[in-house]
Amino acid sequence: MIDTITDLQALRRHILEWRRAGLRIGFVPTMGNLHAGHYSLVELARAHADRVISSVFVNPTQFGPSEDFTRYPRTPEADTSGLEAAGCDALWLPTVEGMYPFGIDLASNIRLPGVADVLEGVHRPGHFDGVCTVVARLFNQVQPDVAAFGKKDFQQLAVIAQMVTDLAYPLELLRGEIVRESDGLAMSSRNQYLSPAERSTATVIHRTLRGMRDEMLAGTARLVVEARAGVELAEAGFEVDYTAVRTPDLVEPSAAPQVYAAPGRRVALIAARLGRTRLIDNIEFELP
Ligand code: PAF
Repeated sequence: MIDTITDLQALRRHILEWRRAGLRIGFVPTMGNLHAGHYSLVELARAHADRVISSVFVNPTQFGPSEDFTRYPRTPEADTSGLEAAGCDALWLPTVEGMYPFGIDLASNIRLPGVADVLEGVHRPGHFDGVCTVVARLFNQVQPDVAAFGKKDFQQLAVIAQMVTDLAYPLELLRGEIVRESDGLAMSSRNQYLSPAERSTATVIHRTLRGMRDEMLAGTARLVVEARAGVELAEAGFEVDYTAVRTPDLVEPSAAPQVYAAPGRRVALIAARLGRTRLIDNIEFELP
């Protein structure tokens, strides 16, 4: 039976008990409305820890003023039973007041320059400040030995990895693979906003990413690959935020085009809207 914890003192007692028993603690932070992608992170954490705790908290500080905070899907019963079935031992359910005891306007903020300012950072200003601000608090509350995040939010993982190193959190980050529907669409809580027609168009994102990877492997110039992908998405009906090929550190590409033709890891990333729904996805590959 999963233990549901709603109070910070109770959480601390729980964690202390595990620590006293010498158990290694794995953590999977989420915003709820869980799907197979989240449950795969629980399994990943389970493989690296003796106990797994997950949090469900729809964090207001990472949503922009015109974003979907109020309509973000909240499914507490299904999440609880899904986590239990996935082998999660405890569920941490913070409140907004508990997370931000001085109120959001007076909350200490973590702002990460560099990797948080590109791509998503350009299109969702302040988003990663909110993510870092809440993840830092969650790490302080749970004090895990390992914490699992999905590669679907590739930039979020890069940002959190930088924060963990920069602020010397004593934990190991685990990176979970993207879980896809059978037609290639990356699983996301936001997929359920899609109308049936949009849902079928949404598969173009993964197809376009595979095309970007194949063109890069065939030696096409990065800028051409990015531009063609943008056109393909726009023709399918997307409003495109970005199509990008980057090295895994996501630094802005240098002016020297040969850097992108050199061997090594690359990631192609897309963010695009279908109607009111904003989707992101990415694909990693190796240039030989
Ligand atoms: O990836 C998410 O669901 C959220 O950004 C996270 C990491 C739980 C922080 O609110």
